[in-house]
Amino acid sequence: MLDLLVRNATLPDGRTRMSIAVQDGRITEVTEGLAAPAHETLDAQGLLLSPPFVDAHFHLDSALTYGQPRVNESGTLLEGIALWGELKPQLTHDAIVERALRYCDGAVARGLLAIRSHVDTSHLSLLTVQALLEVRQRVAPYLDLQLVAFPQDGLLRAPDGLRNLQRALDLGVDVVGGIPHFERTQAMGAESIRILCELAAAQGKRVDMHCDESDDPLSRHVETLAYETQRVGLQGRVTGSHLTSMHSMDNYYVSKLIPLMAEAQLDVVANPLINITLQGRHDSYPRRRGMTRVPELLAAGLTVAFGQDCVMDPWYGLGSADMLEVAHMGLHVGQMTSQAAMRQCFEAVTTHPAQLLGLEGYGLAAGCHADFVLLHARDAVEAIRLRAARLAVFRRGRRVASSPAPVAQLHLPERPENLIFI
Ligand code: FE2
Repeated sequence: MLDLLVRNATLPDGRTRMSIAVQDGRITEVTEGLAAPAHETLDAQGLLLSPPFVDAHFHLDSALTYGQPRVNESGTLLEGIALWGELKPQLTHDAIVERALRYCDGAVARGLLAIRSHVDTSHLSLLTVQALLEVRQRVAPYLDLQLVAFPQDGLLRAPDGLRNLQRALDLGVDVVGGIPHFERTQAMGAESIRILCELAAAQGKRVDMHCDESDDPLSRHVETLAYETQRVGLQGRVTGSHLTSMHSMDNYYVSKLIPLMAEAQLDVVANPLINITLQGRHDSYPRRRGMTRVPELLAAGLTVAFGQDCVMDPWYGLGSADMLEVAHMGLHVGQMTSQAAMRQCFEAVTTHPAQLLGLEGYGLAAGCHADFVLLHARDAVEAIRLRAARLAVFRRGRRVASSPAPVAQLHLPERPENLIFI
């Protein structure tokens, strides 16, 4: 007797009428038309069953703080940084934990079951680190939270930047972060990358740096990141986040850079909602989009994910843990409207970030964790188009969230009474 059988599902790869058998929290079989006794049987009615959404880039320590102590009036990056500086002294452990748990509730409801969050290590007290370590433990039964030690004020620029980052790693933070473009000089940015990659290699950690989050085409730290990745043998374990300067770089230079990034097996995260709003602010018109070169990086074989980055924090007063909204924006900003590219945008919030995080047992195949989302859409492109409702969310074979299908009652002559948005 199976624990759970999902029948008549469409999978993101296009297979239809598929059954997924679950036993002891794992998928035991994925096959067409399987009928077997189970404690719970779910008829997917031909709708899309996807592995859960994964957010490769987030800031859980600042999420849901919007308006504290005041709102970002200009909506710019610089006012956001100033605002975070004003807020930091007012943060408390309990308030950070409460907000983070509340955000994770919303994430689960939207089928987002794995998040890589940067955590600011600039405080001497490591208040944010301690709080998110507690959150990581508390959400572990239902959400994989991976933490990145992020020296927001600079590794070399801030006093004790390196020491605080190392203390955060010692406390159990998973990944080594960085912010080379924020160091005082290009040379110090490069030096910070060298130090951080050596540190990660020595301690067996992955790396994920905020890198070249700038419109300056000469912000080329990603080149150093690719070089250091290879030099210390971290291929496939290093992520360049943002890389917005690549949007503005000279095409000839990029034709050399992307193959170097591919050689180093660098992973990339673009954050379309944030990049499109924070970059290009010094432009008049034409005004640059700021998102990195996603289609070209994918074509070169790199793993590219779309991240949420911010939700209701000093930098961004919108967002809702909805990775389909993120994919929707990435698709538009990157002009990824071919059939194949639209499907890649779905992968950029599911399989790609799962690979980038190194998640064990992710996917819809025998042996994987029984983690999946039933979406109110017939395929991946429609899921993006509709930001489809998450009808049911499963973690380790157990239902952790449900939402009704959106239906509107129409009061029109000679038209249907109920409109189902599909
Ligand atoms: Fe970020």
